[in-house]
Amino acid sequence: MFRTMVESDLDFVLTCLTEPSVNTTTPERFVAYLESGSYRPAWTWLALDGETPVGLAVWWGFPDGERPLALDCLWAAPSVTDPVPVWAGLIRQVPPPVEYHIFTQPGRRDDPQITTRLAAAAEAGLTTVTERFRYEWTSAQPLPKRSTRLTFEPASDGAFADAFEQISAGSLDVATRAGVARIGARAQALEEVEDYKSMRGPRDWWRLAYDGSGALVGAALPSANDGGPVVGFVGVVPSRRGHHYADDLLAEITWIIAEAAAGAVTVRADTDSTNTPMVAAFERLGYRRFALRVVAS
Ligand SMILES: CC(C)(COP(=O)(O)OP(=O)(O)OC[C@H]1O[C@@H](n2cnc3c(N)ncnc32)[C@H](O)[C@@H]1OP(=O)(O)O)[C@@H](O)C(=O)NCCC(=O)NCCS
Repeated sequence: MFRTMVESDLDFVLTCLTEPSVNTTTPERFVAYLESGSYRPAWTWLALDGETPVGLAVWWGFPDGERPLALDCLWAAPSVTDPVPVWAGLIRQVPPPVEYHIFTQPGRRDDPQITTRLAAAAEAGLTTVTERFRYEWTSAQPLPKRSTRLTFEPASDGAFADAFEQISAGSLDVATRAGVARIGARAQALEEVEDYKSMRGPRDWWRLAYDGSGALVGAALPSANDGGPVVGFVGVVPSRRGHHYADDLLAEITWIIAEAAAGAVTVRADTDSTNTPMVAAFERLGYRRFALRVVAS
């Protein structure tokens, strides 16, 4: 049987979360996110065998969101010999589209902790597995060269939606392609604007980039999540691809975040391993690959 968490489950949930695992959720994070609204009792599911809880799934969403978007934790009791069906049942309680993000290191990709969880995700319908390279830039490094061929301007939500819609054409980003296939380029672009607005970075950091003739080249969104500043989005419109403009956009994002921090800062970013032009841009700009994010969707 599956049900969502009630207040009296809190001690049990916190005990499950103290077990070392690949889960992102720790007891401290659970309490803090319950407070902020990124975790909620209604988004925390228990699997029960009779009266005994034997499984747990913790889902994450935006504090102002209406539904959970990503699975952060799967736990099973030691008495469960095969956790896959229990976890698959738990995952099925939340309607798609959802994702499951597992944070790890490249060498640990085949750890049974990960493969068992991905097997459960696949059984519940999350069959597309993407590997995302995680990058970081720290202010201990020199700032990348700032663009001299592009100018950067703030813009309205409508202008960003138009830019995102253009940029989604021919995108190598797995989530963008899936979104466009699911709801179409326009709706996907509008949804992205809303999602980026729900992130912690100030809206007034967002920029559109233009060349010397005033033509739109791309979009650069510095942002932040619960872990600190991030590269929210980099995109070049299809007709202008092939000039390494991604470097200029990434440099601008790095500058905006570094200037706002006015002190030590780390900027993090993710890109799909198959998005080769973006991977190359991070490496040219001096971003260091430090981890791997495995995403089932
Ligand atoms: C990733 C992106 C910003 C790179 O744009 P860019 O700065 O023009 O890329 P580069 O100039 O460095 O391109 C290097 C090569 O890859 C090619 N390339 C770039 N983007 C490509 C794409 N989406 N599909 C196929 N090839 C692409 C270029 O034509 C160039 O080929 P060449 O070496 O034969 O000339 C751009 O592809 C894009 O906007 N994609 C959609 C949004 C996205 O994926 N953002 C990153 C999310 S983290």
